Amino acid sequence: MDHINQTKLLLSYITFFFLVISTCRSSDTIAVFQNISDGETIVSANARFELGFFTPGNSKNRYLGIWFMNTSSQTVAWVANRETPLTDNSGVVKLDSQGNLTLVNGSGKVIWSSNSSVYGSNINLVAQLLDTGNLVVKNGNITNSDSYIWQSFDYPGDTFLSGMKLGKNFITGKETYMTSWRSDDDPSPGEYTLKFLMVKGKYQQVYIMRSSVIETRIGPFNGISFSGRSLLTPGPSYPPYVGYMIVSQNEMYFTTVSKYNTSTSFARTMITPNGKREISLLEFSKREWTTINSLPVDYCDNYGVCGPYGSCNIANSPYCGCLKGFEQKNSNETSVDNATSGCKRSIALDCGPGEGFLNFSSMKLPDTANAVYKNNMSLLDCEVACKNNCSCTAYANPNITPGGNGCLLWFGDLIDVRVYPQNGQDLYVRLAASELSDLKSSSHKKKGVIMGVSLSVAAVLTLSSILLAFYIRKKWKKRSDADIEGRPEKSLDKDYKSSSHQMGSAAVQLFSLLEVSQATDDFSADNKLGEGGFGPVYKGVLEGQVIAVKRLSKSSGQGLVEFENEVICIAKLQHRNLVKLLGYCIQGDEKMLIYEYMPNKSLDSFLFDESRKSLLDWPQRYHIIQGIARGLLYLHQDSRLKVVHRDLKAGNILLDRHMHPKISDFGLARMIKEDENESNTKRVVGTLGYIPPEYAIDGLYSVKSDIYSFGVLVLEIVSGKKNRSFVHEDHDDNLLGHAWRLYKQGRSVDLVDECLRASYSASEVVQSVHVGLLCVQHRVEDRPNTPTVVGMLGGEGSLPSSPKKPAFFAPESEINSTTSNLPLLSSSSFNGITLSQVDGR
Ligand SMILES: *[C@@H]1O[C@H](CO)[C@@H](O)[C@H](O)[C@H]1NC(C)=O
Ligand SMILES: *[C@@H]1O[C@H](CO)[C@@H](O)[C@H](O)[C@H]1NC(C)=O
Ligand SMILES: *[C@@H]1O[C@H](CO)[C@@H](O)[C@H](O)[C@H]1NC(C)=O
Ligand SMILES: *[C@@H]1O[C@H](CO)[C@@H](O)[C@H](O)[C@H]1NC(C)=O
Ligand SMILES: *[C@@H]1O[C@H](CO)[C@@H](O)[C@H](O)[C@H]1NC(C)=O
Ligand SMILES: *[C@@H]1O[C@H](CO)[C@@H](O)[C@H](O)[C@H]1NC(C)=O
Ligand SMILES: *[C@@H]1O[C@H](CO)[C@@H](O)[C@H](O)[C@H]1NC(C)=O
Ligand SMILES: *[C@@H]1O[C@H](CO)[C@@H](O)[C@H](O)[C@H]1NC(C)=O
Ligand SMILES: *[C@@H]1O[C@H](CO)[C@@H](O)[C@H](O)[C@H]1NC(C)=O
Ligand SMILES: *[C@@H]1O[C@H](CO)[C@@H](O)[C@H](O)[C@H]1NC(C)=O
Ligand SMILES: *[C@@H]1O[C@H](CO)[C@@H](O)[C@H](O)[C@H]1NC(C)=O
Ligand SMILES: *[C@@H]1O[C@H](CO)[C@@H](O)[C@H](O)[C@H]1NC(C)=O
Repeated sequence: MDHINQTKLLLSYITFFFLVISTCRSSDTIAVFQNISDGETIVSANARFELGFFTPGNSKNRYLGIWFMNTSSQTVAWVANRETPLTDNSGVVKLDSQGNLTLVNGSGKVIWSSNSSVYGSNINLVAQLLDTGNLVVKNGNITNSDSYIWQSFDYPGDTFLSGMKLGKNFITGKETYMTSWRSDDDPSPGEYTLKFLMVKGKYQQVYIMRSSVIETRIGPFNGISFSGRSLLTPGPSYPPYVGYMIVSQNEMYFTTVSKYNTSTSFARTMITPNGKREISLLEFSKREWTTINSLPVDYCDNYGVCGPYGSCNIANSPYCGCLKGFEQKNSNETSVDNATSGCKRSIALDCGPGEGFLNFSSMKLPDTANAVYKNNMSLLDCEVACKNNCSCTAYANPNITPGGNGCLLWFGDLIDVRVYPQNGQDLYVRLAASELSDLKSSSHKKKGVIMGVSLSVAAVLTLSSILLAFYIRKKWKKRSDADIEGRPEKSLDKDYKSSSHQMGSAAVQLFSLLEVSQATDDFSADNKLGEGGFGPVYKGVLEGQVIAVKRLSKSSGQGLVEFENEVICIAKLQHRNLVKLLGYCIQGDEKMLIYEYMPNKSLDSFLFDESRKSLLDWPQRYHIIQGIARGLLYLHQDSRLKVVHRDLKAGNILLDRHMHPKISDFGLARMIKEDENESNTKRVVGTLGYIPPEYAIDGLYSVKSDIYSFGVLVLEIVSGKKNRSFVHEDHDDNLLGHAWRLYKQGRSVDLVDECLRASYSASEVVQSVHVGLLCVQHRVEDRPNTPTVVGMLGGEGSLPSSPKKPAFFAPESEINSTTSNLPLLSSSSFNGITLSQVDGR
């Protein structure tokens, strides 16, 4: 059978070359046919598509179909007889005199027909395969597309091409949607469909359905494309089409026009047999498909997974939480994850005049099935419309195009809400008056003790505030555990707006233990974000702002005044690539630092997580590399203080909601000195895998040591692999050694993370690897200085020297076996270390 298939393939190639040649002769008859037998094919005018009989995968059946040309493996775009395969090669498709396209088998039995017909005599009827992938039956004398007697574009299968329409005809009730193949071997309709919400008056969105169950919701339409693809940055290649939603009295449909020059590339959208919606791009010159978007990608893409009023956030653990102002419906459930019972209002609505809306930004807007859409309405009018109708629960403007108007009003539960790390939209949710005033009062709360209050006064206050804390904690209404979902911003309520104020950005504030304790719900385990090198970190809300509290280990041996001086110095370091220090707290033996909260957590939570690493595409990674370099330059040179970080690593690079990198923990090495009299091995300055040789061997640390760590970080960002745990099947080198091997072989691009293989800028990767290798040179003087690094990454000047073999210092095993000889673990050698130079100039 295989042999026969191969012969057939060969035959069809020969036929198709012949056809290409013959169709080029007379442009009138391009891709026009009256009949085709199995073994013959028809090629569209510019050789984009081919029509003929084919056998999918390991199947033995034959199907009439249209597939892409210029692909290395056959990619079928449309199948005629999906459900009625031919069992042999006897099929013939022909056009009859009425315009009916029929497929018959060897016995003349009709297997499939287009059922199209036209009345009238003397019509020059033709079937033609167009360069768009559309097979049409038409009057050969007319080129107008409106006059097609029949077209395959009206009968989509699993593939959507620009020019197709998906939608509904309200007169006939006919709905057009995509249906997956049953398997790669079987084009008959599978379990999954991709359907639009085609109800008059409802706002458009897309569902991936398995039989009649919604699996994933894509959308709503944001004026450009269907949102729900948060995790890939819209670049020039995305979306690869311009989408239009056409709504008229009789029909409603979605159609697209390719953004690309179809002479060089072609895009398709398909629903795969296992229910993924994939958008991919074919570059003819490469003959390969690149998937540029795929959904669902993560847990939060499961439809309504957190239940009504729940909000899913992939950056949180657990993923599900309640929108602010809502709490778990079933208090006996440990979390709302997997529990579709979801959330309920903390305070019921009474439709009083004080009710208002809370602005949740960066959201996926809820299911529009229970929303009403008003065209041409401003956001303010939208708010008024929602407020005036007591059953309206939320509103939003779905249109993100500049100046784009429109108003969605939700009635009933808000379902399938999630937080997007980027490209989310603003959702305004109705809350009770007292809920809003609660928020108001928490931001009204008096500011922390102003910096400079003498510490003795603070100490006197300690006891009384601890007593007070007990009292207040009883009264403190325990809010829903995960109510920080969606980063609520100020509400539209004017009263609230005017009263909301941010913590001062210029000066660092001193907060009391009570305030910090309240802000973090008494350092509850639920609010714990993680454990850093210097102690645990908690999430909290202080004066209306989401914060991260670093609770320093109690054993740090520095005096209070000295500590405070350091904090004030470090707080002056402000740069967009540094995490901002907002305040601190010293009370008893507690020392805490209060930072702005970074919703996307740290770089390592993306980079080294198999399921999340693909969320960081190459442009983002490159942007992150450049941002870290700029932050470092500021620390090393541009700030008033010169600070050596001493513990630069992926875990210390935080990502804000736009995925901009921010260096954290700078200055800490200085702030918390080791207690020099005790041999305290609790804390390691520097992290295995990032430690430069001069520090590990001689205990010397300088700006160039940070450069070394930066180099490791760059190679990790490019490769998505940890230096420390890197293994390669061919050799024992660590990541640096591996990068060096590839570099020497001129194969630096091969270092790139497998999950980026589909799309990256080769020149940027090569440049990054080069810079990374220069930074990890063994000799300090061979490493570039910080301005040079920034310059090289900014594309200024050429890359100067070629890197030499990098410092292959310390695969993990070596460190373990020689621990006691390493100064980094013995306190006595700390005297010899050039510590961070913090000299207030
Ligand atoms: C197929 O079409 C050609 C003209 O294009 C015609 O000569 C031939 O007889 C047709 N064959 C069949 C089987 O209809
Ligand atoms: C597609 O492939 C055909 C046949 O190999 C070739 O003639 C044509 O030029 C290719 N088109 C493009 C755009 O590469
Ligand atoms: C054509 O189809 C009919 C009905 O499915 C079947 O009985 C017949 O054997 C088929 N003929 C060929 C040559 O496949
Ligand atoms: C053509 O009509 C037949 C019988 O009414 C029907 O079974 C078949 O599905 C129709 N074909 C198409 C492509 O609509
Ligand atoms: C098209 O051809 C098929 C098979 O001969 C037939 O069942 C169907 O009625 C025809 N449709 C029209 C509209 O002529
Ligand atoms: C269509 O064109 C053919 C030749 O291309 C011509 O013979 C025929 O008369 C035309 N028919 C009409 C209705 O114009
Ligand atoms: C598309 O690309 C082809 C070949 O590169 C070029 O000749 C043509 O002008 C381009 N068309 C547009 C609209 O850019
Ligand atoms: C929670 O408690 C309610 C009422 O006691 C009960 O009906 C429900 O089954 C419980 N749910 C779970 C998950 O235990
Ligand atoms: C919740 O759902 C996730 C993903 O489907 C699954 O891995 C986990 O086991 C579920 N947890 C419970 C308690 O059902
Ligand atoms: C809602 O919050 C977003 C993000 O902070 C902001 O851009 C938008 O202006 C806010 N909306 C209103 C009406 O204030
Ligand atoms: C829609 O908006 C346009 C421009 O703002 C305005 O001229 C027009 O009157 C509006 N139409 C309706 C029905 O409100
Ligand atoms: C509120 O809106 C709903 C849905 O549009 C509508 O049915 C209801 O009549 C409205 N209520 C009032 C008081 O306007």
